[in-house]
Amino acid sequence: MSIARFGIILLALYLIGCSSESSHHRDIQDEAYVLSLPTGFSQFDIPEDNPITKKKVELGEKLFKDVRLSRNENISCHSCHLETHAYSDTIARSLGTYGTSGVRNAPSIVNVAYKKKLFMEGGISDLERQIFAPFDHELEFDLMLDVVEQRLKQDPEYVRLFAEVFDTLPSIYGITRAIAAFERTLVMADSPFDRYFYHKDQNALSESAKRGWALFQSSKLNCTACHTLPLFTNHSFENVGLYEYYKDNGLRTATMKESDVGKFPVPTLRNVEVTYPYMHDGSMKTLDEVIEFYTTGGKSHPNQSPLIQPFNLTDGEKEDLKAFLLSLTDDSFVKP
Ligand code: HEC
Ligand code: HEC
Repeated sequence: MSIARFGIILLALYLIGCSSESSHHRDIQDEAYVLSLPTGFSQFDIPEDNPITKKKVELGEKLFKDVRLSRNENISCHSCHLETHAYSDTIARSLGTYGTSGVRNAPSIVNVAYKKKLFMEGGISDLERQIFAPFDHELEFDLMLDVVEQRLKQDPEYVRLFAEVFDTLPSIYGITRAIAAFERTLVMADSPFDRYFYHKDQNALSESAKRGWALFQSSKLNCTACHTLPLFTNHSFENVGLYEYYKDNGLRTATMKESDVGKFPVPTLRNVEVTYPYMHDGSMKTLDEVIEFYTTGGKSHPNQSPLIQPFNLTDGEKEDLKAFLLSLTDDSFVKP
């Protein structure tokens, strides 16, 4: 399945290549969207041919939430990337247009603009290209994008919006760019931890969460070796020793190297309270389970990172570590 998806993405790359070469497409003048980056966050790359503008973002959000993008008109991007769950979902393997489950856990796409290697095998480098995947996937939308284009052309409101934003009829070119522009605006970091760490508010964290933060960075736990500030990921791919035998090979699917079996992207821990279940396959339901897993040092696998080692924690320390993880929830949008 993953290999099939990879082939489809290559086709998508070819198609998108064609559209961006045709010079009659141009972005109409629209007001620039002013992104306010949280303290500690650097500017991310924005493709030159897809500036973020106000109307484009509105169109992108409308498309993101539109069920007409799926074959049976029953699911949208938002069905698997729900705002209240930091744009992830709550089931181990997300349900597609036929109500059947896919193969992986939907990741949070908050702050996804900072990711240079998308998907769990890291095979895609930009959001415009990523958008082809759910359409072609029989366990997700399962609908050709040109059918979507036809559907949207029947809707006078979309005709008006695409004319305003892209000066064209609804098109694959515009669909992918508008959704990508919307996704780039999901840059958010307004959690108790941010108020404590970046804005120096000593009262923003409980004493327990402060002790948890100290443990998290300690040489004993060494979580910050991979989950680094500000996104709590260093964007590398690592095998944490979840299994002795992996059903899903992760990075190897893209590289075909045995040394990459079981390597998955280090996930952001921002909003981890609401992005359950955890791990690439959603196999752990609670943060307690994840903490328990790390104390055991995981399963031995030839590719397991040497940074994952067993350690002992008292029950109180486990609670502290969890309190710290819970302080990473952005209460401005997840829990307004
Ligand atoms: C049926 C559920 C489902 C739907 C519908 C869906 N996604 Fe996803 N999405 C997932 C899953 C599962 C993954 C992880 C797949 C993988 O890595 O192979 C994912 C991955 C992604 C990623 C990559 C994130 C990362 O960290 O690498 C982005 C971006 C994304 N989706 C955006 C979208 C957009 C935009 C749409 C609508 C056009 C959409 N998704 C529709 C389930 C879904
Ligand atoms: C070697 C790098 C590395 C280290 C060190 C590390 N992690 Fe992770 N962490 C990962 C990777 C990779 C995953 C995803 C694994 C997967 O999906 O199979 C992950 C997953 C997680 C998750 C689940 C997040 C989600 O959304 O699914 C949590 C929570 C977590 N780690 C917390 C910690 C804590 C706490 C520590 C310290 C005890 C720690 N990690 C140490 C790499 C690391």
